[in-house]
Amino acid sequence: HGTSQINQQQHLQIGGVDAVTLAQTYGTPLYVYDTSFVRNRAQAFKETFATEQVKAQVAYASKAFATVAMYQLMHEEGLSLDVVSAGELYTAVQAGFPAERIHFHGNNKTEAELRYAISEQVGCYVIDNFDEIELLNRLASEMSATVNALIRVTPGVEAHTHEFITTGQDDSKFGFGLLNGQTEAAIQLLQTKAHINHKGIHCHIGSQIFEMDGFITAADRIITKMAEWQMTLNYTVDVLNLGGGFGIHYTDEDEPLAPETYVRHIIQAVKQQTAALGLDLPEIWIEPGRSLVGEAGTTLYTVGSSKKVPGIRQYVAVDGGMGDNIRPALYEAKYSAALANRMNEPADTTVSIAGKYCESGDMLIWDAQLPQPVAGDVLAMFSTGAYGYSMASNYNRVPRAAVVFVADGQHRLVVKRESFADLVRNDLQLRGE
Ligand code: LLP
Repeated sequence: HGTSQINQQQHLQIGGVDAVTLAQTYGTPLYVYDTSFVRNRAQAFKETFATEQVKAQVAYASKAFATVAMYQLMHEEGLSLDVVSAGELYTAVQAGFPAERIHFHGNNKTEAELRYAISEQVGCYVIDNFDEIELLNRLASEMSATVNALIRVTPGVEAHTHEFITTGQDDSKFGFGLLNGQTEAAIQLLQTKAHINHKGIHCHIGSQIFEMDGFITAADRIITKMAEWQMTLNYTVDVLNLGGGFGIHYTDEDEPLAPETYVRHIIQAVKQQTAALGLDLPEIWIEPGRSLVGEAGTTLYTVGSSKKVPGIRQYVAVDGGMGDNIRPALYEAKYSAALANRMNEPADTTVSIAGKYCESGDMLIWDAQLPQPVAGDVLAMFSTGAYGYSMASNYNRVPRAAVVFVADGQHRLVVKRESFADLVRNDLQLRGE
């Protein structure tokens, strides 16, 4: 997993740091990120575009994991940023991320969010619907600004893991229908809006995708339309943003291509199709989230109680669960794990890993293969870097876990563990002042 190894004490080592030492130093649950993994992925995406000689932006879809330190790392790697709320934008601003490389997404950006983004001079808006065209143009006009925008379209392609479906319709809360005339209406409306510079088209067909064809079909459909728009609307697409969604490895059932391989095939398909239709090659933007940070993350837990249901199964509980990783409960997401302090021992026992939250559905892994866990062991759950911390909650008033970055044998705390005082910081008394 990632760049993890086993050291001489037979402990799991992440980014050259002993995972058991990390658990002792910072406590558990603990999110550990191997930052060289993230940097390598970022560079692989960028190099793919460089090799193909395409103008590009690689925007980190920060909903996957949004903190000041990760925004700073992405800036160091020369990536752009996709934010979906004023809160993500605020965090990026606190991190010193250059606003001109921030792309603002969302199907219901509020007036306050848009005003804030315009005042920060955010580089690009991904417009989702007709109301937003009107609102954004009005606010930009009031604030004497001209903003860059893409419009999000739904190409009738939806992909999940190994399958994708195409339809002539798209019943989604996001975007303008590509195949039902809405996109043409949006392009024409934007041609009348003096404060919006309409640079191009965006689509995102799903997440944790393993096969190529959904991406290619979506791109083909848009490019076919691009040729029509040039003729009938005198509209040229300068930027084609094909979203994120590149699948990653959670368990050995997952066999994704290298993320940059998806991108290389997409670029080649866009080149071919635009050339065939006599179109200039647009800039190609992507916005991967999970594939940049997912496999870089490992969550460390301490094993506590266990329970045998005779003849059925053994439950082993850890000191975290659905509050730090909602994905198994919400999506039946599968993960793999190891005992970080006993890496030399055979994984000869089947146990189910339970969380500590008051809900039967709070299970992290069903039927994991591990050495028989005992209280005090450090359980490492792999590939937890995306949509774990970012979807964390304080359910049961459990403080959110800390985040540590590791690389080259060094470790650094980048998000402090929440305290009990943090939990009541916004609570007010029933009576009195
Ligand atoms: N761009 C747009 C417009 C998106 O909606 C998303 C993800 C991405 C990019 C990044 O996709 P990625 O490369 O991470 O697959 N909470 C779910 C995933 C929700 C994804 C939402 N949109 C999960 O934990 O699996």
